[in-house]
Amino acid sequence: MNRCLRTVFALVPLTIASLLNAQSPAQLTIHANQPLHAVSPTLYGLMTEEINYSYDGGLYAEMVRNRTLRDGGWEQQDWTLVQNSAAGAAMSVDKTSGPSAALTNSLKLTVMTASPESPAGVRNNGFWGYALRPDTTYSGSLFAKADTSALGALTVSLVNNVTGKAVASTTIPAMGADWKRYSFTLKTGAIEPSAANHLELTVAHSGTLWMTLVSVFPPTYRNRPNGNRIDLMEKMAAMHPQFLRFPGGNYLEGNRLADWYDWKKTIGPLVDRPTHPSPWSYHSSDGLGLLEFFEWCEDLHMKPVLAVYAGYALQHEYIAPGKELAPYVQDALDEIEYATGGPDTKWGAERVRDGHPAPFAVPYVEIGNEDEFDKSGSYDGRFAQFYDALKAKYPSIQLIATTPVKSRKPDVLDDHYYKSAEEFFADTHHYDKADRNGPKIFVGEYATMEGTPTSDFGAALGDAAWLTGLERNSDLVVMASYAPMFVNVNPGGMQWHPDLIGYDGLSSYGSPSYYALALFAGHIGDTVPTSTLSGAGPRVFYSVTERHSDGKLFLKLVNAGPQAQSVSIRVDGAALHGAAQLIRLHAATPAATNTLEHPRQIVPVTTPVTFSGAMLMHSIPGNSIEVLEIPTR
Ligand code: AHR
Repeated sequence: MNRCLRTVFALVPLTIASLLNAQSPAQLTIHANQPLHAVSPTLYGLMTEEINYSYDGGLYAEMVRNRTLRDGGWEQQDWTLVQNSAAGAAMSVDKTSGPSAALTNSLKLTVMTASPESPAGVRNNGFWGYALRPDTTYSGSLFAKADTSALGALTVSLVNNVTGKAVASTTIPAMGADWKRYSFTLKTGAIEPSAANHLELTVAHSGTLWMTLVSVFPPTYRNRPNGNRIDLMEKMAAMHPQFLRFPGGNYLEGNRLADWYDWKKTIGPLVDRPTHPSPWSYHSSDGLGLLEFFEWCEDLHMKPVLAVYAGYALQHEYIAPGKELAPYVQDALDEIEYATGGPDTKWGAERVRDGHPAPFAVPYVEIGNEDEFDKSGSYDGRFAQFYDALKAKYPSIQLIATTPVKSRKPDVLDDHYYKSAEEFFADTHHYDKADRNGPKIFVGEYATMEGTPTSDFGAALGDAAWLTGLERNSDLVVMASYAPMFVNVNPGGMQWHPDLIGYDGLSSYGSPSYYALALFAGHIGDTVPTSTLSGAGPRVFYSVTERHSDGKLFLKLVNAGPQAQSVSIRVDGAALHGAAQLIRLHAATPAATNTLEHPRQIVPVTTPVTFSGAMLMHSIPGNSIEVLEIPTR
């Protein structure tokens, strides 16, 4: 046989096999009357931390960057001098004068020459500008003092970078010699939405002025003072989150022991919050502090998963269990009391003073973050010390360990997975055979590592495939959260990719993974019924859950291959009623994605589907993530 013929014959069986495969549908049977186990009601939630300008320059709606003059590296870019024509002024950071023991830095402005025609002052460039909208009221404040009343009034303006003209302006009357808080509002008129703006604070006479905690807020979610960006809160709400893990991962730990997340410095009036260095290369304002995390949970009806500092820093330093660790254990007890305690408790009373009389429920407390990196082995002892103290005072709180320990049996173990799509496809059975007598599992961080700044469709396929495995094992896996959630896509905003939700000052968008997660979380039952799948290709993944309250089956299908997969779906043990619907997230290629400029290239599309009796012949296009919602009553 010549070489060509041999090749033809060699190809024949393959071609026939693939033809057969294409023609014979996979068989998926759901036994709706045979429950396997309950679905964790808290399966889908959120993980958050200060990374990628998630809080400052992100969710936390403050527009003034470096408002307390603590972010050394950025000083010159955040704050610059305004000197019009003849005006002469100098600016420096005064580290000896501030309005409180916590805020000892201020911006010192010395004006040598200025006049009403030629004012002098400073400008703040904001987080990549000030994103302003028409007919909007911005609420502001600052702490200030002056060496002479001759300095006159302070003019506060939002100024367009291109025209140099104020789009909103107000004045603060002459300031006194002592630190005082001044508040103001700025209202825009008929402007085009734009981030090309800055804030100016100017005077028309010579003298010296000190300022700090300069603040400007746009309208916030639920109009909370010191609150959150509306679009980002709405994006999270659409994910149907059941919990929020906070305040972060590495952010909780800090680079060095001294940089630990000291929650007591993040509560109370902003003027009493000293701010702190965070491990992701920029300083944290702590405007979004402990109480604000709980209020965020309250606003989105999420259960708090409170992570407490456990004596380990990213540079591998640790606090030895025993006497040295005891103050940190006490701190965690105080933290829980701050959240849950009544007005008759020391820290509960502090929360009441901070403006939140009602206590918060704290069902989960996580002790540390990723303590598997502590190669000293101290975590076993550290965990035990926290566990004993917390369980003794709060026996009903579920305690989460960040890595397996022998000293105690944690209620829950936090597993993290950052993998390629291929690795997730190969690992969807990860928990199928896992020990059901050990701790429950919290997949506290996971992400398919594809796409930048936000995940692409290939990543969404990896994430969705992985989630089918978590749903199937949701008797064991009680919670799961993607990380990181947010990224400011402006230049220099990102420290980690991929992320779930991208934004600049004006707008935000969800990645394909965002839509996949929202779709999965929004269509979840309370029970996993028995089901079987045969004859499907290796890149087809599925999970089924059933909701009894309103009689619905949710079948999730992921086809991560390029070819369509036909599947014959049969539902046994339930009468199907009414119209089923198919919600599909699809892209032409795994590299396809959403961006700030094209935010809705890949979004779920809903179509009706009709079962014939208990059967549906269905074709899942290649590169697709689907939910079939099937009414059973
Ligand atoms: O999500 C980003 C980082 O990944 C978290 O801070 C940390 O917990 C993990 O290593």
